[in-house]
This record gives sequence, structure tokens and C-alpha cells, in this order.
Amino acid sequence: MRPTNAALTIWVSFALAIGLALTQTDSYDVRESTVEGVHNALYSDLTSCRSIVESFIARIEAYNPAINTIITLNPNALSIAEEKDYTLAAGNTTGALFCIPVLLKDNYDTSDMHTTGGCLDLADSQPTVDAPVVAALKNAGAIILGKTNLHELALEGLTVSSLGGQTINPYDHTRTPGGSSGGTGAAVAASFAVFGTGTDTVNSLRSPASANSLFSVRPTRGLISRAGIIPISFTQDAIGPIARNVHDLALALTVMASVGYDPDDNATALTPSSLIGQDYSAALYNGSLQGVRFGLVEGFFNRTASNETTPVNQVFDDMTAALTSAGATVVPITSNIFNSTAISNAYDTQRLEFRQDMDTYLSQASLQGTRPSTLNDLYSSGKYLVIPSQYSYVNTALVSSTGNTTYTGIKFGIQNLTVALEDTFKADSLDALIYPEQANLVVKIGSPSQSGRNGILAAVTGSPVVTVPAGFSPSTANAPLGVPIGMEILGLPWTEAKLLNMARLIAEVNRVRRMPKSTEAAVESAQLVGVPKILPDTKDIPKVYPIGIL
Ligand SMILES: *[C@@H]1O[C@H](CO)[C@@H](O)[C@H](O)[C@H]1NC(C)=O
Ligand SMILES: *[C@@H]1O[C@H](CO)[C@@H](O)[C@H](O)[C@H]1NC(C)=O
Ligand SMILES: *[C@@H]1O[C@H](CO)[C@@H](O)[C@H](O)[C@H]1NC(C)=O
Ligand SMILES: *[C@@H]1O[C@H](CO)[C@@H](O)[C@H](O)[C@H]1NC(C)=O
Ligand SMILES: *[C@@H]1O[C@H](CO)[C@@H](O)[C@H](O)[C@H]1NC(C)=O
Ligand SMILES: *[C@@H]1O[C@H](CO)[C@@H](O)[C@H](O)[C@H]1NC(C)=O
Ligand SMILES: *[C@@H]1O[C@H](CO)[C@@H](O)[C@H](O)[C@H]1NC(C)=O
Ligand SMILES: *[C@@H]1O[C@H](CO)[C@@H](O)[C@H](O)[C@H]1NC(C)=O
Repeated sequence: MRPTNAALTIWVSFALAIGLALTQTDSYDVRESTVEGVHNALYSDLTSCRSIVESFIARIEAYNPAINTIITLNPNALSIAEEKDYTLAAGNTTGALFCIPVLLKDNYDTSDMHTTGGCLDLADSQPTVDAPVVAALKNAGAIILGKTNLHELALEGLTVSSLGGQTINPYDHTRTPGGSSGGTGAAVAASFAVFGTGTDTVNSLRSPASANSLFSVRPTRGLISRAGIIPISFTQDAIGPIARNVHDLALALTVMASVGYDPDDNATALTPSSLIGQDYSAALYNGSLQGVRFGLVEGFFNRTASNETTPVNQVFDDMTAALTSAGATVVPITSNIFNSTAISNAYDTQRLEFRQDMDTYLSQASLQGTRPSTLNDLYSSGKYLVIPSQYSYVNTALVSSTGNTTYTGIKFGIQNLTVALEDTFKADSLDALIYPEQANLVVKIGSPSQSGRNGILAAVTGSPVVTVPAGFSPSTANAPLGVPIGMEILGLPWTEAKLLNMARLIAEVNRVRRMPKSTEAAVESAQLVGVPKILPDTKDIPKVYPIGIL
């Protein structure tokens, strides 16, 4: 179609305006950048959306080879950024996350990139629709930069997978980044995106936040739809953001929770109607810690002195002192129900739900590409990685279901634990429970498991937790800043706004987060012509983990 003269004139002046916008090539320093910082630079014409995306990709190209966080880069990221520049030049900046680069854990369905769970047998699995939460992020203007490595199928906390290899902690290259959302944790710590997403069946949002000096929120069961996310457990799965500051975390949560009721995840029906459309950033700057009552869970510490545990205990002594001097009260909670090993042994539902939930996911009509049609097919293929400590878990899951006689008893037990938890809050008029996500430092690469974690209480009871950086272990040759140590703040259901407010106040009295030394230097962003596909580095899988032997 030939444009008319009038239309041509309009088009030419529009193109000139955009040309101007696009010639703003000053590269923007994206290290530790925030949503607000990116928006200020963009809306004051300091830079273009394309230039912002280029700057993040340049950091990924410079530093990903050392920490191996990315499974796929979005081949369309630059062209999407250019579209945003046109939209911006036309005066349209709709969306709370306009031009905000985001990385997704590679168990979130994306219609424009494979969704693999880090598993070789799912390398070709291609969703035709975005998970509702991904659609919400895109609708809010976010640019999905790519997909991050995870512990294979999100089943452990070491962040090693047959497709993605081993992700490395940017603060200490001899340690894991926690997990299972460790690719997102390491990537966000290294400023590869403004924020990222993860999933959490027992610890998996909180462990990488803790191990990378970041903030995360595991929402109350039902607040965010889990449809279109590779599942493990209907009872325990939750999804949420991981960010470098509380404000960005709250903005991300607001968008992710905006999906609201979703018939494809019936747990979303539990969300109180008063919370539909809630803006979690609104209440962040209210209040103070004066009079706030925290319960410090003694059973979630390891008091055996060692280089792996003493730094955690020391950081929590310092945290208690900081909270107390800010006017809060810290009450020791000594009840023996707070024993993570015991809770896990008695109430973990994963083994019984995994096969059914995964079979439902794999049979979705919206999945295309060569892939297994059941969990049993996947494990028969031999194209996966199971670490030895998981053999019994996987072997049991393959023959178990919610029809097992033990399932109902476990669900009743969880109800009891939930009541006991509410009683604890009531007895001491608590606002939140606090404790280390890990009683010991995040483990060394090659360790058999990410031991000592305390995520199970929130996972089975469906309670919300905001994780905040609490401190660092002493500096060593491998960890110049020390190894990050994180604190969980657990609340009663639907108290996310209150927990985020506390997290913001705590981050103010105890400023902890620092960028890792290994990725600290600025990266000059060259003009990029296309987005290369980052090939995951499987050569780093520790040899002790055989692929495909069960
Ligand atoms: C502005 O952008 C939004 C989101 O991309 C889009 O839905 C809307 O149609 C745009 N409005 C105009 C006037 O271009
Ligand atoms: C909700 O969905 C789960 C998983 O699909 C299913 O097991 C359960 O029966 C559903 N509950 C209701 C009340 O429909
Ligand atoms: C936070 O403070 C502002 C300003 O004082 C007030 O308008 C708002 O209602 C408060 N919000 C909450 C959730 O307390
Ligand atoms: C514990 O840390 C000290 C001081 O950094 C060091 O000398 C010692 O070798 C460490 N012990 C172990 C078992 O790593
Ligand atoms: C916690 O539970 C485990 C498993 O039941 C048990 O072996 C351990 O002694 C308990 N720890 C404490 C401090 O009671
Ligand atoms: C569920 O039942 C199967 C068949 O009896 C059994 O092999 C499996 O161990 C059971 N799973 C659990 C978690 O008890
Ligand atoms: C739950 O609590 C009730 C009442 O205290 C008790 O009778 C029941 O045995 C408990 N069930 C489990 C599975 O712990
Ligand atoms: C507590 O820490 C010690 C020292 O690191 C370790 O040997 C022990 O296994 C830990 N205990 C538990 C229950 O994780």
C-alpha cells in the first residue's frame, strides 16, 4: 500500500522524532540499576531502550562465561527494545515495567523461547503460549532478556543441570549460587537484568537470594498463578521475583500477582478479594521498626561452631542487635516444632505429587516440540541429571501419587503444623518469624546437597516469606567480600505488604547488599547487531554426577 502524501508527512516527522530518540547512544551504566533508575534515564532522554538492553547484554557477554547463568538469550530482545523506543517517541510509556529487562528461570513457559527445566530431554520443548505471569510481565512493558539455569527440574539447590551445567556463585567461585533458582540469583547479583524470577517448592527462591545478597518474595499459596510453570508439587510450589532492592521486588510482585484468579491454578481462588490489584510498592515507606515483634527461631540455627556455621550465627547476633536498637523486640522461639529436618521428614508432599503434576504439565496441548509425554518417559530417556542424593527421591516419585495411603495423613499433619504456627504468632504477639535461610554457608561446588536450609516450614504451610540480605562471612581468598548470608522474614498468610515494609526498614538499618567483586567492573557496550545464543557450558558438571543413571 502506497502512503498518501499527508500520511507520508506524518510518517516522516514521526520517523525523525524516533531517529532522534534512537541516536541517543550514550551507554547507561546498568550496574545495580533499579526500575526507577532505568525509567529516569529513559524518560529524560539520557538513553534509549535499545541502549539499555545492549548494556545488559554486554554484561552478560562479558561475565556469563565465568558464572554460567544463562540457558537462552531472547533473539528478539533488541528488536523489542527498538519497538519500545518507537512507542516512547510516540509518547506512550504504558506499563509499570516499561523497558525493564527481566530474566526468567527456565521453568516459566515462554512462547518465544524453549522451556527446558535445564533438562536435556526437554531441550526442544516449545510452549505456544506464555505462562499467565509471563504475559503479565510483558503487558507491563518488561523485556524478557532470556532464560536462566536452574537445578535440573528445580529438584535440588545446587543449580547444576544436564542442559545448563553448573552455575557459579559470583561472590565465591568455589561455591554454588544456592538454588534451585540459582541461575536467576547469580545473574541478578551480577546485574545481568533489573530483576529475575524463580520458583520455590522448598527453598528455591530464598536460597539463591540468600546466597547472592538479594531480596526475594515467596508469596502466600494462591497469590500468584502457577499455570504454565514446570511443576513439582501442587501443595508446595510457589513462584516469585528476585531483586536487588525491596522497591523493585514490590513492583515485580505487583505485576506478577496482577494475574489474579486463574482457572488453570485453582489455588488462586484463595486470594482475598481485597488483595486483587494490590500495589505492593504503596506501603513500603510507611512506619518504623519501633514496637515490631520478631520471633527468632532457635531451632533453625546450627550451633556447632565451624567455619560454615559460626559466620551465620554471628551475622544473626548482629542483626538482632540492629533490630533491637531500631526499637523492635526480638523474642527467642524455642518450641521443638521448629525443626526443619523433622518437618521435612513428616510433611513434605513432593514425592507424592510430582509425577501427577508433571504428567499434567507434559500433556498440555499448548506444548510443542519433541519431548517426553510423561515423567516416566523423561527418566526412561536417560537425558537428565540426577545427583546421587536424589536417587531415592526420584525413584519413589516415579511410583507414587496422591492416591498413596500416606497422602491424607500428611495433609492433616500440615494442617496441624499450620495451626501450631498461628499459635506461635498469637502467643507472643509476633509480627513475623526470622531465621537464616541456611544455617550454614551456601555449599561448595561438588557437594552432595545444599544442606542446612530452612525453607520447608513456609513451603508446606503456604506462608509468605520475604528474604533479605543479612550479612557476609569473613573475607577469604575465594570470597573477597565474604559469602552472602540471608534472612527469611515469615509472616501469616496474605501479609506480603507488611513483610515488604519490614524488609525495606531492615534494609535501611542494616545496609548489606554489595555487588560481587568478580563482576564489579563496568562493561563498555558495543553496538550489537544481533543477540547471540549463549551456549550453556556443560563441561563444568562435576564428574560425580552421572547423567541418566538411576
Ligand atoms: C500504548 O502501549 C500499550 C502497551 O504496549 C498498548 O496496549 C496501547 O495500545 C498503546 N497506545 C497507543 C496510543 O499507542
Ligand atoms: C485443584 O487442582 C488440583 C491440581 O490440579 C486438583 O488436584 C484439585 O482437586 C483441585 N481442587 C479443586 C477444589 O478443584
Ligand atoms: C502510607 O502512608 C501514606 C502517607 O502517609 C498514606 O497515605 C497511606 O495510606 C499509608 N499506607 C498504608 C498502607 O499504611
Ligand atoms: C577456617 O577458617 C580459618 C580462618 O580463615 C582457616 O585458617 C582454616 O583453615 C579454616 N578451616 C577449615 C576447616 O577450612
Ligand atoms: C530434629 O529432628 C531430627 C529428625 O527427627 C532429629 O534427629 C533431631 O534430633 C531433631 N533436632 C532437635 C534439636 O531436636
Ligand atoms: C506409594 O506407593 C507405592 C506403591 O505401593 C510405593 O512403592 C511408594 O513407595 C509409595 N510412596 C510413598 C512416598 O510412600
Ligand atoms: C493433628 O492434631 C490432632 C489434634 O491435636 C491430633 O489428634 C492428630 O493426631 C494430629 N494429626 C497429625 C497427622 O499430626
Ligand atoms: C551443623 O554444622 C556442623 C559443622 O559444619 C556439621 O558438621 C553438621 O552436619 C551440621 N548439622 C546439621 C544438622 O546440619
